[in-house]
Amino acid sequence: MDPQHNQGIVILDFGSQYTRLIARRIREQNIFSEILPSNTSSTEIRRLNPKALILSGGPSSVYSESAPMYDESIFDLDIPILGICYGLHLLVQHYGGKIETSNIREYGFDEIIINDKSDLFNGLPDTTEVWMSHADKVSELPKNWEITAESSNGIVASLVSKSDRRYATQFHPEVIHTEKGKEILSNFLFKIAKCNLNWTPRNFIGDKITEIQQVVGQSGKVLTAVSGGVDSSVVAALLNKAIGNRAISVIIDHGLMRKNEAQDCVKSLKEHLGVNVQLFDESKVFLKRLKGIKNPEKKRKIIGEQFIWSFEKIAKSIGQVDYLAQGTLYTDVIESGGIGSTKQAKVIKSHHNVGGLPQNMELKLIEPLKELFKDEVRSIGRELGLPDKLLNRHPFPGPGLAVRILGSITQERLDILREADDIYISILQEEGIYDEIWQAFSVLIPVKTVGVMGDNRTYENLIALRAVTSLDGMTADWYRIPDKILSKISNKIVNSVSGINRVVYDITSKPPGTIEWE
Ligand code: XMP
Repeated sequence: MDPQHNQGIVILDFGSQYTRLIARRIREQNIFSEILPSNTSSTEIRRLNPKALILSGGPSSVYSESAPMYDESIFDLDIPILGICYGLHLLVQHYGGKIETSNIREYGFDEIIINDKSDLFNGLPDTTEVWMSHADKVSELPKNWEITAESSNGIVASLVSKSDRRYATQFHPEVIHTEKGKEILSNFLFKIAKCNLNWTPRNFIGDKITEIQQVVGQSGKVLTAVSGGVDSSVVAALLNKAIGNRAISVIIDHGLMRKNEAQDCVKSLKEHLGVNVQLFDESKVFLKRLKGIKNPEKKRKIIGEQFIWSFEKIAKSIGQVDYLAQGTLYTDVIESGGIGSTKQAKVIKSHHNVGGLPQNMELKLIEPLKELFKDEVRSIGRELGLPDKLLNRHPFPGPGLAVRILGSITQERLDILREADDIYISILQEEGIYDEIWQAFSVLIPVKTVGVMGDNRTYENLIALRAVTSLDGMTADWYRIPDKILSKISNKIVNSVSGINRVVYDITSKPPGTIEWE
């Protein structure tokens, strides 16, 4: 796309976890969109010639000193502007209204009541479910602005200045949990901004293969770090297609995998993908370095570092290797603080495959999935011909069970968690609900509680079960496991895993929770 003729949407990034989702949702409606830093000048935006501007959400408060910089004259642009969450606050502040920190913080689902269906909410019902994630709210409307929707708590959910073509929503239309998000964005794109279809998704696989061939050259060798999950398997398949046997796959058993996972991985990759994959057992060195470490971020850093060191060692034993390929996804990047124009995003967790890289790493990195969300990776995997069983496997974090054992990690705790988790997942599969769930897992909480088994008093650990639905890992809701199945899981775990005498179920959505506990 020639930037001189954008004719689509420019999104200014104020640091929201969801900024790239906005771009993606717009592209899904076949409109070009690009994300630029919040301080992009109005001159630059004019040069790009977009049909409209979107101001993203962000973690700051508009009155805070550390609020992201922006060019005030963007508000003079004669194109429609949509502000989302933080973007709403900016619009309200600029046009003379007031924002205040609300005593009602709204995170998660809310029902809004729509009272104007002429523009953004055209064709929508009177009430609809939306996804909120904010603490600040509008306390005074700017002159000549009107409220178009309110939240169930009476907070301004959307407002407009029709004469200026300025629109704002307190909720996030871009996240999948906003029931009519697609329609709202579509109204903005087509009815308000008068966009014409100008974008077709590029051929991701073809483009990536060419890119990999260009980067690696005629003789370069790539070591693919395979975990057995969807992401790294897709990377391995892509690499195989791009450079054939110059792509070598290895699985490092860091001792933090699920039961039988490493062995199953080797088997399914060899059978289904014909990938030349070797298994290396590095569990002793990982466990030794993790001994006594309780802080989740420290765990991630250690695992990330050791992962790279182990790979470097293995690479040397394999012979001359130039690159290391990883299945880093966009969610990993954004939640670790962002890339490029999205640098404003707050660090939530330093995902090991980005945050923990040592500066002096000897291998160059290839991360072909860095701009994709999980569901996009799955559909690419399907196109590449990977088996459904592999594609539908729940995501598993790089640091593995380390972030699912609160407190320090010992062999004994790993064994307890592995057994319980295996029982849990097997029952979900037997009951036919595994594929309805985005991610299910157990968390070992090293807090002892009293119980009674037979005539004996027990004093053992607590295990938490988590199951969430999600489309991309950015937002999630807890999955309603039928109580009969929950009780079957609980009974079996307590009866057969020694070291656990109590099971609890996590009913927190994301936000405010994250999917993993650490
Ligand atoms: P959270 O817990 O941040 O998780 O809501 C979102 C998704 O990312 C996975 N996750 C990780 N993946 N390294 C990874 O490769 C990590 O350190 C990590 N932490 C979380 C998580 O399992 C979920 O799918």
